[in-house]
Amino acid sequence: GIPNFVKIVEVGPRDGLQNEKNLVSTAVKVELIQRLVSSGLSVVEATSFVSPKWVPQLADAKDVMAAVCNLDGVRLPVLTPNLKGFEAAVAAGAKEVAVFASASESFSKSNINCSIEESLVRYRAVTRAAKELSIPVRGYVSCVVGCPVEGAIPPSKVAYVAKELYDMGCFEISLGDTIGVGTPGTVVPMLEAVMAVVPVEKLAVHFHDTYGQSLPNILISLQMGISTLDSSIAGLGGCPYAKGASGNVATEDVVYMLNGLGVKTNVDLAKLMLAGDFISKHLSRPSGSKTATALNRV
Ligand code: HMG
Ligand code: MG
Repeated sequence: GIPNFVKIVEVGPRDGLQNEKNLVSTAVKVELIQRLVSSGLSVVEATSFVSPKWVPQLADAKDVMAAVCNLDGVRLPVLTPNLKGFEAAVAAGAKEVAVFASASESFSKSNINCSIEESLVRYRAVTRAAKELSIPVRGYVSCVVGCPVEGAIPPSKVAYVAKELYDMGCFEISLGDTIGVGTPGTVVPMLEAVMAVVPVEKLAVHFHDTYGQSLPNILISLQMGISTLDSSIAGLGGCPYAKGASGNVATEDVVYMLNGLGVKTNVDLAKLMLAGDFISKHLSRPSGSKTATALNRV
């Protein structure tokens, strides 16, 4: 059956904004995070300590963290691609981080400029340093169904990378369909392969809505026992190194579906929508959430 409670990991301020061409001010990012937190979300991925040459939008990571790191009752993980990023994140006040590997060799190269194996060596260094400071590390696997260059990715490859991240100490593994090509037809065998090597309660799913498959993929994942979902306010997002990737599944749409299923999230949909309206206005763009669009009309 479906879990009674689902933890939502809001990735809008990071995954959502990282691909935005026009620079969003630090003040707007901070207010977005505050609004998301006040809607009841317990985990809000705040920013990334990556190279500003690779992701210019998040060059203000230190300032964002300084403004939000003392917010109560919320975890605010940040992405760290290497020890340099980890050290900068900790210095800025981060209390939780995430490393991000790929199941596709080509995507690893274009996203973090190294092979999968090289990335795992880096991440072992990050998890070792984090353990000393008792900092929890989340592990992402991207391209879990398909890659923009390599096409279909074998489930065994996803399971291999997920297990490596789990074994090095990541407390949770988020499985990302980075380009949003998956359907329940390809997601199920992928999850089966990963669940054979990592306990299901340690897994999260991270869908992008390129082909409108996120909600069916989420529903099937819930039915398989997954109880942690990544989503992005107003459906913002896309990866700068994944051509054609559209936004993440919208948090409003996920909460609407979970409410309909009677699954608890502790998230207030009305307050969540205010956060979505806020950022959509700032980006001068209609919301990517069908739920927000529908509810704003009534
Ligand atoms: P590189 O160029 O190979 O790095 O980039 P390098 O070690 O050769 O260093 C080059 C320069 O970068 C040096 O500076 C370093 O100091 C600096 P310079 O001497 O030229 O002035 N540098 C850094 N600066 C700030 N913070 C750091 C850092 N590290 C080195 N941490 C690197 C390698 C990994 C740094 C780069 O490729 C990078 O930052 N990549 C991040 C890309 C990214 O953020 N992508 C999006 C996130 S992943 C994603 O969206 C998928 C996900 O959502 C899941 C899904 O959807 O499936 C998670
Ligand atoms: Mg993503």
